[in-house]
Amino acid sequence: MLILGIETSCDETAASVLEGKNNNLKILSNIISSQINIHKQWGGVVPEIAAREHVIHILPVIEEALTKAKVKKDDLNVIAVANGPGLITSLIVGTETAKTLSYAWQKPIIGINHVEGHIYANFIGKDSILEKSKNIFPALILTVSGGHNMLVLMKDYNEYKIIGETRDDAAGETFDKAAQLLGLGYPGGPIISKMAKKFKGKTTINLPRPMINSKDFDFSFSGLKTALLYEIEKDKNYKNRIPEYCYEFQQAIIDVLLHKTIKAGKKYKAKSIMLAGGVSANLELRKQMISVVKNNLPDVIFNIPNLRYTTDNAAMVASAGYWKAKDKKFDDWQKLKANCNAKF
Ligand code: KG4
Ligand code: ZN
Repeated sequence: MLILGIETSCDETAASVLEGKNNNLKILSNIISSQINIHKQWGGVVPEIAAREHVIHILPVIEEALTKAKVKKDDLNVIAVANGPGLITSLIVGTETAKTLSYAWQKPIIGINHVEGHIYANFIGKDSILEKSKNIFPALILTVSGGHNMLVLMKDYNEYKIIGETRDDAAGETFDKAAQLLGLGYPGGPIISKMAKKFKGKTTINLPRPMINSKDFDFSFSGLKTALLYEIEKDKNYKNRIPEYCYEFQQAIIDVLLHKTIKAGKKYKAKSIMLAGGVSANLELRKQMISVVKNNLPDVIFNIPNLRYTTDNAAMVASAGYWKAKDKKFDDWQKLKANCNAKF
């Protein structure tokens, strides 16, 4: 099966061609045109600008993905497109382009939930969880990015239950807002993690671990950002302690994410645990999660996506498309719509 994946949920215009055979998914091309340098100057993504950039880049990016994969449009079996959640004006560009191609090329189309796409980044190539075991359900996924922050229980392919989510800011959003407070620029996650690495020793800064002991599996990170603001307002020397603030801030987020994931893994008797979303690019989170799962749930299979499929990309969308196409979950191109609040 040859699948063209399309992704335009936020500020990345992306297209990918995937070849799927007996649940082995090979990425033949993975093209990403990032707008980070444009949005940087505003300290975050400006939706209107993002949409206009997608319009400019979407067709060349798709063409490049097909050329690089050495695949002709006629050879494609399915077009998979992330149609929500995300920025509505950005989603519309990808969704309407996919619908047009579906009609013009006479190919079936599948709308993919963007979060679902992140989850299926765990099923690609040599880094696929299926390389470790075929017996992975129920699977627990911690999916964390700029737009979402959830614990998802997956009973089978295409069957999900959200068991916890953020009540306010997502972890990635919190990284971005903290970086802004510290004057570090956008996107915040990579900069804060780079800074945090520079700190060696024991920190004297004490940030809260919000909701770490709550009985549910929900998260809340907006208070952490406010706590950071209060701390730096009190500290006249904070500009000389940026790595230490970044270290403590990053660790506060990691502590909460890991604690809740382990608790959920035990409660739901997960056979496997996966990490997904843009924040899964965080090397410290990856490292600590591997060891925490090993120590607390030694029989559980643990997987993290290859780094190149952590932040927004279209390979993950094509991967999700494969499992839906297998179940014949096709959409009607005339009815498929971009939906900024799409749920599972
Ligand atoms: O999945 P993604 O590319 O877009 C959304 O679906 O939101 O995630 C982007 C988010 C941003 O908030 C960014 O700061 C965060 O992921 N991020 C990171 C790292 N790389 C990206 N957060 C922490 N550490 C990183 N290394
Ligand atoms: Zn994303």
